[in-house]
Amino acid sequence: MANTQGTTGLLGWIDERFPLTKMMREHLTEYYAPKNFNFWYFFGSLALLVLVNQILTGIWLTMSYKPSAADAFASVEYIMRDVDWGWLIRYMHSTGASAFFVVVYLHMFRALIYGSYKKPRELIWIIGVVIFLALMAEAFMGYLLPWGQMSYWGAQVIVNLFSAIPVIGPDLSVWIRGDFVVSDATLNRFFSLHVIAVPLVLVGLVVAHILALHEVGSNNPDGVEIKKVKGPDGKPLDGIPFHPYYTVKDLVGVGVFLLFFSFVIFFAPEMGGYFLEHPNFDPADPMKTPPHIAPVWYFTPFYAILRAVPSFAGTQVWGVLAMGAAIVMLFFLPWLDRSPVKSIRYRGLLFKLVLAAFIISFLILGYLGALPTTPARTTLAQVCSVIYFAFFFVLPILPWFEKTKPVPERVTAK
Ligand code: HEM
Repeated sequence: MANTQGTTGLLGWIDERFPLTKMMREHLTEYYAPKNFNFWYFFGSLALLVLVNQILTGIWLTMSYKPSAADAFASVEYIMRDVDWGWLIRYMHSTGASAFFVVVYLHMFRALIYGSYKKPRELIWIIGVVIFLALMAEAFMGYLLPWGQMSYWGAQVIVNLFSAIPVIGPDLSVWIRGDFVVSDATLNRFFSLHVIAVPLVLVGLVVAHILALHEVGSNNPDGVEIKKVKGPDGKPLDGIPFHPYYTVKDLVGVGVFLLFFSFVIFFAPEMGGYFLEHPNFDPADPMKTPPHIAPVWYFTPFYAILRAVPSFAGTQVWGVLAMGAAIVMLFFLPWLDRSPVKSIRYRGLLFKLVLAAFIISFLILGYLGALPTTPARTTLAQVCSVIYFAFFFVLPILPWFEKTKPVPERVTAK
């Protein structure tokens, strides 16, 4: 006899004890997503794919990696040369780290252009920003593990920043390192945090992110709430079941992504020093500082903001605060953007210009953060930092001047 879910046999037996069919319905076959998703909506599922890639390749790397200052560098070389397919697993992981940030930056950009952070999706956005922070911590700690020159000196520079914090700073940086300098103790704790603590947090946050999304429903390129117009069956007229329509569509995105991903892994795994920096092919040497220390590309915009702020009375604390503020401001976006119009399609020219200035300044900062400083570059970084922060302060007053277009009742796709 069929149960309340209408299932029989083994599935019926499970459904009477566990909400399997119920969950599949809620999140896949009866999750109604807007029918007008475009290119920009591929990146959420791609971020999930990269997360799985990082976890799986990470598990296999951990089987041969040795987290000690004496063995770490050699164990990575061992993985690259002697472990069967070790080179592939390692390049999938190192390229995966950069791919993660490419995908997540594009995913965040989508939220900016379609106003996906606005009511009722504020919490999806906030959880997203926390994911972004966790991802940065994860990547930073992972980069120390190969114990190359850049791993070592990059960590030294970044952990030292904490000592700029008044009163607690110096003790805090010793507490983070577990030592007075980056050492074996630091490597051990970063390993522990990188392989288990932060990934657990990340997975939990991603589950919360998707639960919050499914509670309110997806936004779309028109910024129209599809739940407002329902058919006689109670389903949104502009919605289609996620499965099979978007599972199949997302598979096409996965295929195209894997083409690019494989190309990088097989032909340009170091990406000219942007994905794996050249000094990192030398083992860490605490006695020899590399001539130019720069973080990996995904951190460079924030690093450029840090360097753009001059140090007063010998303390970098203002730069550190500015760098932190550059991320913290993102949390407030849902309340800073007061326009009732979500999608860029119906917003005025003014918003488009302000957003373009924000994105371009962020890209220039990213470029500058990878280069050694010169007086001219510092001035440019200062101008771009001001534009970056101005975005958040201009947003609340924008609706006074902005001429928006009428937003349609229904999505515009046929
Ligand atoms: C591990 C990283 C992440 C994963 C796996 C992930 C996953 C997803 C998925 C599967 C969706 C639904 C599909 C889509 O709309 O593309 C989504 C939507 C969304 N994500 Fe993320 N996400 C991640 C990081 C972020 C970050 C860092 C932010 C922002 C700071 C963010 C903000 C959003 C928003 C606002 C939506 C709703 C979009 C809409 O309905 O238009 N996500 N995410």
